[in-house]
Formats: sequence, C-alpha cells, structure tokens
Amino acid sequence: MDKLKLGLIGLGRMGQKYAEIIDSSVKNASLLAVCSIHDKELDFAKYKLDVPYTFRNHKQLLELNELDAVMVLSSTVEHARHMTDALNAGFHVFCEKPLALSVEDCKKVIQVADSKPSQLAIVGFNRRFDKSYAYAKQKIAEGLIGKPFLVRSQTVDKDSQVGFQQNYVQKSGGIFMDYNAHDIDLARWYLDSEFHSVYALGGSYKHQVFEQMNDADNVLTVGRMRNNAMVQIIASRTAAHGHDTYCEITGTEGVLRIGRPAGKNLVEIYDKNGARREIVDTFLERFEESFVHQTQSFVDHVIKGKKMSVTLKDALEATRVGVAMTKSFMLKKEIVIDR
Ligand SMILES: NC(=O)c1ccc[n+]([C@@H]2O[C@H](COP(=O)([O-])OP(=O)(O)OC[C@H]3O[C@@H](n4cnc5c(N)ncnc54)[C@H](O)[C@@H]3O)[C@@H](O)[C@H]2O)c1
Repeated sequence: MDKLKLGLIGLGRMGQKYAEIIDSSVKNASLLAVCSIHDKELDFAKYKLDVPYTFRNHKQLLELNELDAVMVLSSTVEHARHMTDALNAGFHVFCEKPLALSVEDCKKVIQVADSKPSQLAIVGFNRRFDKSYAYAKQKIAEGLIGKPFLVRSQTVDKDSQVGFQQNYVQKSGGIFMDYNAHDIDLARWYLDSEFHSVYALGGSYKHQVFEQMNDADNVLTVGRMRNNAMVQIIASRTAAHGHDTYCEITGTEGVLRIGRPAGKNLVEIYDKNGARREIVDTFLERFEESFVHQTQSFVDHVIKGKKMSVTLKDALEATRVGVAMTKSFMLKKEIVIDR
C-alpha cells in the first residue's frame, strides 16, 4: 500500500480541519469518504473538497471496500461505538481524544483492538506532535533538567468560545474530560509515571450556565504521581486575552517552559498602547501544525505496518484520571485512583 484512502466519521470543527489538512498537507493519503449527521457539513466536503462519498450513517461509510483507514472525529459520546464498529469492519483507526467517557467503555474498545493486532488503533494527543512539546520531551530524555518532579499544565480558552461550549458540554464529558485530557497525558508523558491521586476545585465564576450543567468554567487540579512527582492542572473557558495553552516542567537541574511568554509568534508590537504580543484566538490556530504532523504520522505508520508510540493505554489513563478529577470536583474531596 503506497497511498492511503481515508474515511472521516465526524465533520464538525475537527473533522473539517482534518479534511482540509488531508486535502492540502498530508503525503500519501487521500480523502475518500466522510460522514456527518449534518447535511451542511457534507456539502462542505462534497463541494469544497470534492470528496467522492458522503454519508449520514457511519455504517454506510464502513461498507466501502476501497477504504484503508478511518478517523473518528465525531462527538466524544460516540467515539467508543464508532471506533469499535470501524475496528470490527477491518480498518486501521485513529480516534480523537478522549477515547470514551468511562473506563469501562475504554476497556471494551481496547479488548476489540487487542483482538485485531494487524490493525493500528490510536487516540490523538496532538500536543505530543507539537514541535515545542516534543522538543521538551527530547530535552528531558537527554537529562537537561535532571529528574522532573513537577508538571504545571493548562488549557485556557478565550471567553468568546463560551457560546459554542454551552452546547458542547453534554457531548464532550465536561471540562476535565474535554479540556484537561491533554494536560493529563502530558503529565504522564513528561513525568514517566501514573497518577496516584487528584484533588480538584473549581466553579462557574463567570457563566452560571455551566454550574446548571454540573460543570464549571474554571478548574484547578492538584495531583500526585505514583513516583511522588507533583502535578498542577488548570482549565479555563473565560480568558479575556485569547487561547493560552502552557506547560512547565521542573526538574532537579532546571525548568522547561512551553508557551511563555504567551504569543501568536515572535513579534512584539510597540505602539501607543504600549509594548505587547498578540495571542492566538483558538487551539486550531495554535496547534494546526501538530494536527498535520499527527495525521502524517498515522498515515506513515499504517503504510509501513508499524505501531505508534502513543497507545490506547494512554487514552485509557487519560479517561481514568479525567473521571477521577470530575468525581473529586463533585464530591469536594481527594480521590485515590483505582486500577
Ligand atoms: N485534539 C484537540 O485539541 C481537540 C480539539 C477539539 C475537539 N477535539 C475532539 O474532537 C472531537 C470532535 O470535536 P468537534 O469540536 O469537531 O465537535 P463538533 O460538535 O464540531 O462535531 C461533531 C461531529 O460529529 C458528528 N456526529 C455526531 N454524532 C454522530 C453520529 N451518530 N454519526 C455520525 N456523525 C456524528 C457531527 O455530525 C459532527 O460532524 C471531540 O471528541 C473532541 O474531544 C479534540
């Protein structure tokens, strides 16, 4: 196989971004089919990108014999079902994070994936494919900061996204599962250990509507890893200044900071308002390049028949810790994580 024919299930914010990326920036792949429950999104694929097949039901897409691999980019509540069906139909599958909203559902998908070892099955933690986050990992591996013992990581969205997020909460599992899945994964990746326990705080400080949905607009979690390293994780839906993703890793011999000072690029503006940097509006702008690298990596690994370093076990752990953080927030107490 030298060129991969891809099918996408889900064509919303992420699906459309991946469709454009495959169309313009990914080598050795083409977009054969897409599926969405919204006709407008299917029209985007049909008329803007000339995608040959469009479906409203994912099972019809999975019947296409010409297809090689499937990307599950649907609402989080649908991931486990779509991934299981795609694996059972014989395809290599990439699934956006999180794999599922419960540990039990993650384990069921993993059981199916384990029974099909020749099919690649992964979940997207795109920050691992961002140049700066990957560079930090390399520096840690080289011993530059000694032994890492503290990760502080945040996912902070601009307040202007709140309208979208209000409708999104019920499908995404809430702020810990949705926003902090990446921060959990980074803490595990950089500290090379699993979470032992978490204590989460937060509330709806600006938008009461999130409290009515048992969610929050700003949250803070303190965690302890099994190797005794410390973690501090933040998520916010209410930043005035922009999308502000940040991570800091402290080790016995130094500190690595990713995303400081916050900025869209390296340009500083000096004018009548003072000296400043502009900042990105959304994660799509900040992480565009990482989505390209991640998709290219998935395609290359499928073509070469190789496994990827990120696994479904990583996805299981992100869900396990996200569930514990949500529970800690609701019960207002520390949660020791069962395994
Ligand atoms: N890696 C990241 O940084 C990142 C960022 C945003 C979202 N995500 C993840 O990507 C996924 C999609 O998010 P989004 O923001 O694009 O959501 P969205 O609401 O914009 O789009 C959801 C899509 O799923 C489709 N869909 C829903 N139910 C379906 C069904 N039963 N059958 C077929 N299609 C169905 C919809 O038609 C729509 O196209 C989520 O799981 C989310 O967690 C990841």
